[in-house]
Amino acid sequence: MKLFKTILTASTFLGAAAAVHATELEVTHWWTSGGEAAAVAEFAKAFDATGNKWVDGAIAGGGGTARPVMISRITGGDPMAATQFNHGRQAEELVEAGLMRDLTEVAEKEGWKDIIRPASLLESCTLDGKVYCVPVNIHSQQWLWLSNKAFEDAGVPVPTNWEEFAAAAPALEEAGKIPLAMGQQPWQTTLAFQVLLVALAGPDAYTKIFGEQDAELAASPEITKVFEAADQARSMSADSDVQDWNQATNLVITGEAGGQIMGDWAQGEFQVAGQVAGEDYTCLPGLGVNEVIMTGGDAFYFPVIDDPEVSAAQDQLASVMLSPETQVAFNLKKGSLPVRSDVDLEAVNDCMRKGLDILDQGNIIQSPDQLMSADSLVQINDLFVQFFNDPNMSAEAAQNTFVQLIENAD
Ligand code: GAL
Repeated sequence: MKLFKTILTASTFLGAAAAVHATELEVTHWWTSGGEAAAVAEFAKAFDATGNKWVDGAIAGGGGTARPVMISRITGGDPMAATQFNHGRQAEELVEAGLMRDLTEVAEKEGWKDIIRPASLLESCTLDGKVYCVPVNIHSQQWLWLSNKAFEDAGVPVPTNWEEFAAAAPALEEAGKIPLAMGQQPWQTTLAFQVLLVALAGPDAYTKIFGEQDAELAASPEITKVFEAADQARSMSADSDVQDWNQATNLVITGEAGGQIMGDWAQGEFQVAGQVAGEDYTCLPGLGVNEVIMTGGDAFYFPVIDDPEVSAAQDQLASVMLSPETQVAFNLKKGSLPVRSDVDLEAVNDCMRKGLDILDQGNIIQSPDQLMSADSLVQINDLFVQFFNDPNMSAEAAQNTFVQLIENAD
């Protein structure tokens, strides 16, 4: 088991040395890009300021790689002190197995129920009336990020919606650009597919299909349009031979690619590159078609560790992650929205402002992780990955398989 050292640190206070207990907590997450690292440094700074010590446990390769590592350490008796998961049901079995700490006491003491919005975020942390995680941000996947330079070079106006973007593909290719940047990690193609479905079929259809497993709707002409658009996206990204999402974002930042369908964590990369929303890049929430955002994002869970000082430090970490100051400092760097509305975000840029306005209007949908079991979702996501990687799979064949998977989903 990872050693958690309680170290005595002496500090001078009014001339007298005072020994304070500082507990080191190992925190695992998958935030390894430039923007993500800048954001997680704000959490570390805030936790260290409590007199404890953040021991960074970054795991590269995205959530799909990191989560199995986190889960196997927790179930294998080698738990970290805190770990990231997405909002939703990813840690449900760990909580049910009694391996994650009950945070209800600190949640009630600090009034999380009255602070956190939308309420679904805390509900996703709650099982049998007890709170097991602290939501830290709202990330939405429903964005198209466009390089203003790429469209200028191609001699076409910056698109205002998916249809204009797809129509600009030939001009972009003519100008030597990759129309659609996409990393080759599986979760990125599933993200693109889910974003196309919500944007082109609409939020109600998405929620009925993923939340109520409406197979009839999955077989409808509205969803046929989605698979046809995914077929276009597959062609537009054929030459995007990068792996990580932030490498694809960098293709947009440098103007080598026209656009990228990616969550608003991409904002962190534009910020680190010194690019300005509305000037250097353009963001289209809901692909400029259905302006809704998914209240996805991240929460931190705290594995049970039999050490009262660790438990106390875990409560302090949960509390500081939710503090107004930390919520602002972290989310501005992360490109996400805070989980509390009582913070002053005067520094938000145009794109974050668009996201906040959509959130304030209540145009939100829950993430697939919050609507469907992990097992069902894995099968559907595997289909999306297979479709994107196998040009011989027709849109029609993919939709037929999709209908079958929805029929058997839970
Ligand atoms: C998501 C996570 C974001 C972002 C992204 C790419 O699952 O919610 O915080 O970092 O992965 O790593």
